[in-house]
Amino acid sequence: MNGKMNRIGVFTSGGDAPGMNAAIRAVVRTCSYHDLHIYGIYRGYEGMIEGDLKRLEKGDVGNIIHRGGTILKTARSEAFRTAEGRKKAYDTLMAYDIDGLIAIGGDGTFTGAKIFHEEFGMPVVGIPGTIDNDLAGTDYTIGFDTAVNTAIEAVDKIRDTAYSHNRLFFVEVMGRQSGFIALNTGIGSGAAGILIPESLSDLDGLLARLNKMKMRNKLFSLVIVAEGNENGTAQQLADLVSERFDGFETKVAIIGHLQRGGAPSALDRLLASRMGYSAVEGLINGQTCVMAGIQKNEVKYVPLGDTIKGSKSPDPELIKMAEILSM
Ligand code: F6P
Repeated sequence: MNGKMNRIGVFTSGGDAPGMNAAIRAVVRTCSYHDLHIYGIYRGYEGMIEGDLKRLEKGDVGNIIHRGGTILKTARSEAFRTAEGRKKAYDTLMAYDIDGLIAIGGDGTFTGAKIFHEEFGMPVVGIPGTIDNDLAGTDYTIGFDTAVNTAIEAVDKIRDTAYSHNRLFFVEVMGRQSGFIALNTGIGSGAAGILIPESLSDLDGLLARLNKMKMRNKLFSLVIVAEGNENGTAQQLADLVSERFDGFETKVAIIGHLQRGGAPSALDRLLASRMGYSAVEGLINGQTCVMAGIQKNEVKYVPLGDTIKGSKSPDPELIKMAEILSM
């Protein structure tokens, strides 16, 4: 491929995240500014394989900056994991004369984009879009702030019942492999405990704190449980506490996919706009196989390989602080 960009494809893939639409808008408008043709690829890698593309004009992305979800739809593609699937995707892109890609998604999306780049030399810039915030090389991913705000709003409401009835609630938040949502929600909602997948969550410490609370006759509280934490589900933990202690009336609430939807927060809209703009500028200027991330409030291009899961986990100091503040 020569270095000149004429036609760019943009897609969203993996779990949807609030702010993806704001990123799509920024990509399309920046392309339009540079007189580049931009194609929306629908349903992520699935649409790339099946040839589900449509030319986007700047008017197509009006009135979407405030909307959750993704107008391009999304999917978790099994077919793209196969060499055959990726070859079909490449053939589609060649049929449309696409010279570069902008991939909006999380670790699965970036893993696919990296392999695709290595196999076919297709220039690609990633935009971190996932509520999990688990990509290294960026302080924040699009959707994380909104998801945490949604979870905190829900926990605040649950707190009213916890207080009024003297109940101990175990609230499960999203994050199969990532505890960022749980940690920030727990700190922001003043939870008594937070259990996350990355650290060996201190279950004994939590039980000891609950015991102290009980001695003080404080019987209402909240524990935030990331769905992927290894001590068990919210229900299993509630059962364990009921078995160990008399006196606590335990309840479970699972917030689930509520956290993925809704209007993006101001922070997510701004982040998405900056990243969308920078992804196009990067692609034009020869950046490839990188993510347009944000570090200390500055856009940085980070190799896709460095961004992929396993290399970013919550700050231990924050975990310690959360425990101290919960006592
Ligand atoms: O990656 C985002 C996320 O919402 C995770 O927090 C969660 O574990 C997972 O996606 C759920 O995925 P799905 O909607 O496909 O069940």
